Amino acid sequence: MTDIPARQEPVYGLAAWTYQNEELLALEYERLILGTWQIVCHQNDLAEPGDYVTFDLMRDSLVFIRDRDGTVRGFQNVCRHRGARLLDGKGSLKTRLMCPYHGWAYHLDGRLAAVPAEATFPGLDKSCFGLKEVETEIFLGFVFVRVTGEGPSVAERWGDFADRIRPYKPEEMVAAGELHIEEWACDWKTAIDNNQENYHIPVGHPGYFRLLERGIEDFGNDLGVGGSTTRHAAKLSENWVERMYQQLAPKALTHLPEAERVTWRFFSMLPTHGIDVYPDSMDFFQILPLGPGRCQVRLGAYGLPNPSREVRVLRYLNQRINRQVLHEDRWLSERVQQGLLSHGYNPGPLSTKEDGVKELHDIVRAACPVARLSEAPPPGAVRAADAEMAAARRAAE
Ligand code: FES
Repeated sequence: MTDIPARQEPVYGLAAWTYQNEELLALEYERLILGTWQIVCHQNDLAEPGDYVTFDLMRDSLVFIRDRDGTVRGFQNVCRHRGARLLDGKGSLKTRLMCPYHGWAYHLDGRLAAVPAEATFPGLDKSCFGLKEVETEIFLGFVFVRVTGEGPSVAERWGDFADRIRPYKPEEMVAAGELHIEEWACDWKTAIDNNQENYHIPVGHPGYFRLLERGIEDFGNDLGVGGSTTRHAAKLSENWVERMYQQLAPKALTHLPEAERVTWRFFSMLPTHGIDVYPDSMDFFQILPLGPGRCQVRLGAYGLPNPSREVRVLRYLNQRINRQVLHEDRWLSERVQQGLLSHGYNPGPLSTKEDGVKELHDIVRAACPVARLSEAPPPGAVRAADAEMAAARRAAE
């Protein structure tokens, strides 16, 4: 178990204005959304050559395609002619990707293949107009993208924590249902704040409180990956769904070591998402901004193929348990968003059990120095104030 760090001074979170400000959100989007790794899907969502999925991030759209040689590549979902959006949703391309506007056609590897009436484009060099590729990484079977920015790979960020997931064979998993998407009426940070701490579980999630033991292990590294491990409570839950899960998992999940059959692992990868490892399946949980005070939740569940009847039952029970938790998290996050915008609200102190919240806020403050201010700069002045504070920070270093 990780020791709870001692603190001599109270710690406070971000000021309320930072949770609903369009200009700050524009900075966060550039630096913390486009500039960091985002989870897209699982590699087995793109099982065959030509399979594609699109991934929308506010004003940006990306498309991920499996090529004939098995490589998964990510591209801007934008035609190189006059900028039309190319694809929607998911599907399979037979041979090429054709723009719906004038018919420019692209190979599965992004190269421009054909241009209708090519002779009317004097001097056109098709090799210069392939789809714009984005940085992609496959880690534990999941496809990640980083649109801009640099730094450690996903694998480097996770380090040894990946070893905790490998026994579950994540690379072999397939979708256990459709991607679940919801829009929440709260800032993306409000939702991630909630995901970053277990302090709210006894009151906010009575189901988890009945089902799982507390205080087994909290962990984290210096690269923004951390989480907690817990296991089934020794006492059977009074709720039949939770009780049935407690009773069935140790008997049904014979491919796992005994301890793993009752262990739940919650990982977070700041700033926007987590990976949850349950005895019967895994999921990713991702929060993306949609606008000031609005965010999108993406939840993808995966499991090993050909599950037994018992495992199918476990997944059904798991979904009931975790959909309730999602519902509670939404309710709590939207209530926080409503409350923190009230006149006169100032953030209260954070518990050491909320160090994950502090970690996120430190990341936001480092990327966007203006977020350190207790009051919002005047409208139109956020970017300039941010540049000024960044310059002052550099001068002081
Ligand atoms: Fe795509 Fe013209 S915009 S072919």
